[in-house]
Amino acid sequence: MRNIGVIGAGHVGLVTAACFAKLGHNVICADNDIEKIERIKNLDMPFYEIGLEDMVKETLEKGKLYFTETVAELTEKSEIIFIAVGTPSTPDDSADLSSVENVTMEISKALIKIKNTSDANIYKLIVEKSTVPVLTGEWVKKTLELMSPTGIQFDVAANPEFLREGNAIKDFLEPDRIVVGVENERAKQLFEEIYAPLKSPILFTDVKSAELIKHASNSFLALKISYINAISQICERVNADVEKVAEGIGYDKRIGKHFLKAGIGWGGSCFPKDVAAFIKLAEDLGYPFFLLKEAQKINKEQRLLVIKKAKELLWNLKGKEIGILGLSFKPDTDDVRESPAIDIISLLLKEGAVLKCYDPKAIENMKKVFPDITYSPTPYDCVKDVSLLICLTEWNEFKTLDFEKIKSLMKIPHIIDGRNFLDIDKLKKLGFIYKGIGRS
Ligand code: UGA
Repeated sequence: MRNIGVIGAGHVGLVTAACFAKLGHNVICADNDIEKIERIKNLDMPFYEIGLEDMVKETLEKGKLYFTETVAELTEKSEIIFIAVGTPSTPDDSADLSSVENVTMEISKALIKIKNTSDANIYKLIVEKSTVPVLTGEWVKKTLELMSPTGIQFDVAANPEFLREGNAIKDFLEPDRIVVGVENERAKQLFEEIYAPLKSPILFTDVKSAELIKHASNSFLALKISYINAISQICERVNADVEKVAEGIGYDKRIGKHFLKAGIGWGGSCFPKDVAAFIKLAEDLGYPFFLLKEAQKINKEQRLLVIKKAKELLWNLKGKEIGILGLSFKPDTDDVRESPAIDIISLLLKEGAVLKCYDPKAIENMKKVFPDITYSPTPYDCVKDVSLLICLTEWNEFKTLDFEKIKSLMKIPHIIDGRNFLDIDKLKKLGFIYKGIGRS
């Protein structure tokens, strides 16, 4: 078992820390947000992730997981240090790497202190876990080399995460693959050891290729969704069914059936930021990535499709009461960052619509974005007297709602299914006027 440090107790950091602790390693997780650390220690998770609270509880009780506010303590106690701090977008769409740089400087300072108080042979493996543009590893290494005293041995590696929110623990423990960019055998062996309990294949590459794999992966998935959304636009125009088209092409193993769900487009804290950063990075390297720019454009157009459909159903939206079910960017999370719901609500408000919104987990977060709209305590309150119901997130609990009751509560039974997840035949039989995305 190894001593592992994880810097950053955000979605990626906290899941990584808890999962490594679950695998039996001794894990120390650092975050400079003292309040957040206290909350986690009291088992009040700062975000919703299935299974996380139980795993944190179990590993804390077993003494496998420990929290600190200082990178210095973490550096001293860990042999392998994962950097999992945020890399948000700058105004020009690049990844803001200042937190990565700050953390690297703090590790350097800690290394100097350790060297001054010990004669032992010290080795540290510093690993990028956050999504970073290619060449970040080189900067981390240069910074450590410049700042750290000779005599401390270290390596820099890249081990990008592929964790989906809402599925993060499973994605960590049963990944399709583990990607590791290393510079030498010593670092490689450490990775083989810490991931030994997992059955998944490990792909070892150089650091730059590993960094690129992350951006290339997320961008490809976003591209795939935009592709099926472009097809949905064609389906709209000829009354074909995009769900059937997706099924038909997805059977081809070379294409695959995943990430072919048409709808209001991709959102969240990863795809929009990562696609934009990849485009910017490519541009900086002299390659204009038009393919990805088009994927972004298609994604925006899917949001507009909902407004177009609302107008087709209601004519003018001014003063019309509309119910919105689903606010998070996808189900099983309370995260509303870059949620399609934000764009759609903004557009509806601009048209003068009067909104009532419901989500099983994301209301509190959405209140920070739209403090002045009405939030309903239940889905049934949300649809009372509305002339249109718009479903924006495919939460399981929405599939099993009593739609007969919903119809009786609504003023007019119009429904827009932004995720094509409702039972179209059942709804039509009940008398709903249904509009999906690329199917009707
Ligand atoms: C994504 C990747 O899937 C993870 O592998 C990656 O580790 C993560 O970003 C990250 O970079 O940290 P996540 O943002 O949690 O994970 O969510 P996804 O499940 O990938 O969904 C992203 C968006 O695409 C959501 O808005 C979802 O509704 C949309 N989507 C997904 C579709 O519109 N259609 C689909 O078929 C699939």
